[in-house]
Amino acid sequence: MKFVSIIGARPQFIKAAAVSREISKYTDIQEVIVHTGQHFDINMSEIFFKQMQIPEPDYNLGINSLTHGAMTGQMLTKIEEVLIKEKPDWVLVYGDTNSTLAGSLAAKKLLIKTAHIEAGLRSYNMKMPEEVNRILTDRISDVLFCPSNIAVENLEKEGFKDSNCKVINSGDVMLDSALFYETISRKPEFDLPEKFILSTIHRAENTDDPQKLKSIFAALSEISQKTPIVLPLHPRTKKIIEDLKTCPAFDGFKTWAPGRIENLILVEPVGYLEMIYLLKKCSIVMTDSGGLQKEAYFFKKPCITLRNETEWVELIEHGFNIVAGIEEKGILRSYEIIKKRKSNFNVQLFGDGKASTIIIKELLNN
Ligand code: UD1
Ligand code: UDP
Repeated sequence: MKFVSIIGARPQFIKAAAVSREISKYTDIQEVIVHTGQHFDINMSEIFFKQMQIPEPDYNLGINSLTHGAMTGQMLTKIEEVLIKEKPDWVLVYGDTNSTLAGSLAAKKLLIKTAHIEAGLRSYNMKMPEEVNRILTDRISDVLFCPSNIAVENLEKEGFKDSNCKVINSGDVMLDSALFYETISRKPEFDLPEKFILSTIHRAENTDDPQKLKSIFAALSEISQKTPIVLPLHPRTKKIIEDLKTCPAFDGFKTWAPGRIENLILVEPVGYLEMIYLLKKCSIVMTDSGGLQKEAYFFKKPCITLRNETEWVELIEHGFNIVAGIEEKGILRSYEIIKKRKSNFNVQLFGDGKASTIIIKELLNN
């Protein structure tokens, strides 16, 4: 049997690592890896292949840094060429990026069976490119592997129960990776304060509006006076902060070039093994990342989500996560609440770390 896995962005390398390792246990499955090129810096791409021992991509399409339409369109053309040549039994796509949408659409048009891993998530905010990508991918995939019960329920509400496509609660492949790599996590090379908050910001809805970004950074700056914050900067955010140095909205923040600014420690993106180390050592996570919200819970850390909504609503319901919004006051308030909150993290929300096994068994039986 032949699988083509389509990946391109950082979180997809982390998810695909678990599934590729599972595939490698089967001599009768050939995996062809297509890297769209969406993420391309060494510390956004190559480092994950090395650290997580993901097989080298068979194709790198080199498509990045474009508008949504151009990026998705160029990927669609190139992925179609690969699929026509490779004639796989299954195409595997992950999550909600432009690479995912291009991959699922190319496969569907060629009538190749498609599996969507991390299906059924909804933020109910159609202004997010991720929401558009995941809804469309769910709609055209043949098997939908959901990470949680809520993801299954979301799909049932949309009528998927009565459709021809199969909906399966496999659990979350990110948990497979977190558990597997936890034992080999690695201290980053920079100096770490004894106690710190771990933060990341990269979502377009936050970075692309100077007022919103300013308000988030104002809150982080204030909080860092009490507890230092370590913030590995996504290249999108780094570029925007550099460009904003002359923007009026950022008056008073002109010194915010990447570097160490008192207790707000801005660093380059780190590898997955270093990220797991930071997750294990930090006291709180503050992020707009989807993946990191869950990893905070995997490592029993309270999380503040720097957005107005989240797809991972089970984390909110259990009190592990607070959706703080992006206003400075709201973020500060959430910080005061979460640092006092005592949570019992011993609840199983995203399976038992064997999602990849369930996924591969299911694909082999179809
Ligand atoms: C993408 C996904 C987002 C996901 C994120 C994970 C879409 C629509 N968005 O957002 O859902 O949360 O990846 O990190 O697919 N850049 C570099 N070097 C890199 C990667 C990106 O300089 O290695 C720059 C690009 O040139 C571009 C900007 O960062 O200017 C944004 O990259 P892009 O891939 O368009 O979107 P992300 O914000 O990374
Ligand atoms: N991550 C990493 N290094 C970093 C920042 C994040 O390895 O410097 C990992 C993080 O632990 C998680 C994944 O990248 O596994 C999340 O990706 P990202 O936040 O870019 O995307 P999202 O999950 O929001 O789509």
